[in-house]
Amino acid sequence: MPTNEELLRTHYSALGRGDPDAAADVFADGVPSAPPPLPNDVRPRAREFVPASDERVVVLGDYRAGDEAVPFVHTWRFADGKVVEVTDVHDAARLGALIAGAGDDGGLRDMATGFMVSQVLHAAVDVGVFTALRDGPMDGESLRRRLGLHERGARDFFDALAALGLLERGDGVYANTPVTAAHLGDAEADSYLGGLLAYIGSHWYWSWGRLADALRTGKSQSYGGEFPYDAIQADPELAERFQQAMFATSTALRAAIAGGFAWERVGTVADIGCADGSLLARLLTAHPHLRGIGFDLPAGVSGFRRTVARHGLEDRARFEAGDFRAGPLPRADALLFAHILIDWDAETRHMLLAKAYRALPEGGTILIVDTLLEETRGPDSAAGLLVGLHMLVDQRGGPSYSAEECFDWLGKAGFRDRRVRSLSGFDRLITAVK
Ligand SMILES: C[S@@+](CC[C@H](N)C(=O)[O-])C[C@H]1O[C@@H](n2cnc3c(N)ncnc32)[C@H](O)[C@@H]1O
Repeated sequence: MPTNEELLRTHYSALGRGDPDAAADVFADGVPSAPPPLPNDVRPRAREFVPASDERVVVLGDYRAGDEAVPFVHTWRFADGKVVEVTDVHDAARLGALIAGAGDDGGLRDMATGFMVSQVLHAAVDVGVFTALRDGPMDGESLRRRLGLHERGARDFFDALAALGLLERGDGVYANTPVTAAHLGDAEADSYLGGLLAYIGSHWYWSWGRLADALRTGKSQSYGGEFPYDAIQADPELAERFQQAMFATSTALRAAIAGGFAWERVGTVADIGCADGSLLARLLTAHPHLRGIGFDLPAGVSGFRRTVARHGLEDRARFEAGDFRAGPLPRADALLFAHILIDWDAETRHMLLAKAYRALPEGGTILIVDTLLEETRGPDSAAGLLVGLHMLVDQRGGPSYSAEECFDWLGKAGFRDRRVRSLSGFDRLITAVK
C-alpha cells in the first residue's frame, strides 16, 4: 500500500500536468477537493514533503504561473489511505495577483456566455431544424427555405450548430448527428426531448433571466408572473406542452423506477402528480399484475388518457382528478411522488407526507423520487443545488434536500424502514413503510 507521502506525490504530479480528475482520487468521499480550483495556467508545485505524524503530512510548495510564484503550506490529514482534511495557507492577495496576471480566466467567460450555446439549441428546436432533417440531409439553402429563415443569419446558424456538434456538415449539406436524430428528429418517438427543450427555452429561460431579482426578493419570477400550475390549469395548450416536457424528463428514469423496487408486493400504485401518465404506464407495462391510479390536477386528464390508450392499459389504469393541497390522496398500496416534494415549501411537504400516511394501509409504501443533495453540499450536489434554485425562480418551493432530511420528515410522519437508492442520472429513490 502506498504511503501517505507517495499518495500526495501522485496528487501533486497530477495537478502539475493539469489532470484534476486523477488528482481527486486521493480524497475520501464527500471531502471537498483542495487546493481550490485554479485557472489552467496556475499550478501548485510541491517542493518539500514533511511527515508530521502517522496521519499528517505537511507540504511546502508554491503556486506558479510562468516565472511568478506564491508560496503555500498545505497540511494533509489521512484516514485509511484517503485524505479527510486539508488546510491551505498562502497569501491570498498575492495569489489573486498571480491569477489576475495569468492569461487564463479559469473558464469565467465560457460560463458567462453559456446561454448562447443553449439558445442556439433552443432556437434550432423552435424553428424545427432537427425534425426537418429527419428524412435525410439537406443543403443549406433548401433547409433555410424549408424553415422560413431570413438569409442574414441562416448560414452562421447552421454552421454554429455543426461546430457545436449538433449537426453534421459536408459540402454545404447538413444532417442530424446520431444524437440529434435519436432525441430531436422524431417528435413521435419515446426518446424525443424536444418537448422538454421547448418548455425550457420559453418558460425556464424567462425565469432564470431574473435569478438575481429572485435572490433579492425571495419571490418566484415565473413566466408571465403566474404560478406555473395555475397557468397550466387555465390554458389547455400550455397543459399539453407541459406534459410533453414532463414526458421527456423521465425516459431513462421510468425504466429505473420500474426495475428499482419490489413491485411484485404491490397491488395498486397511485402516481401522485402523474402528469401525462408515462411513468405509470411504464410501471404497469413492466409489471402486468399492477393496477394504477394517476392523480393530478384536472387539466392533466386528456394527456393521461392518450398515454393509457397508447399502451392499451385502459382496464388497469384510471385518472383521478384532485388537488393534493386541498383534498385527500387516493388510497393505494403504494404512493409514488416523482418530482413532487421539491416543488413545495417545507409546510406543504409535511402536509403531503401526513396525507400519504393516512391514505396508505398498514405495510403500504411511500416512494419519493427527486434530485437530492449530498449532506456535504459539495461538488456532487451541483445538480441538486441548481434544481433548488430553479424552485426559487420558477416555483414557490425548494430548497433542495438531502436523503437524511427526508428520512427525518418521514420519521415525523410515522414512516419506518426508510431507504434510499440511486436511480438514473442525479435522481434518487427514497422508500418508507407505514
Ligand atoms: C414536476 S411535475 C412531475 C411530473 C411527474 N411526476 C414526473 O416525475 O415527471 C409535478 C406534477 O404535479 C402536479 N401538481 C401540481 N400541483 C398539484 C396539486 N395541487 N394537486 C395535484 N397535482 C399537482 C402537476 O400538474 C405536475 O403534473
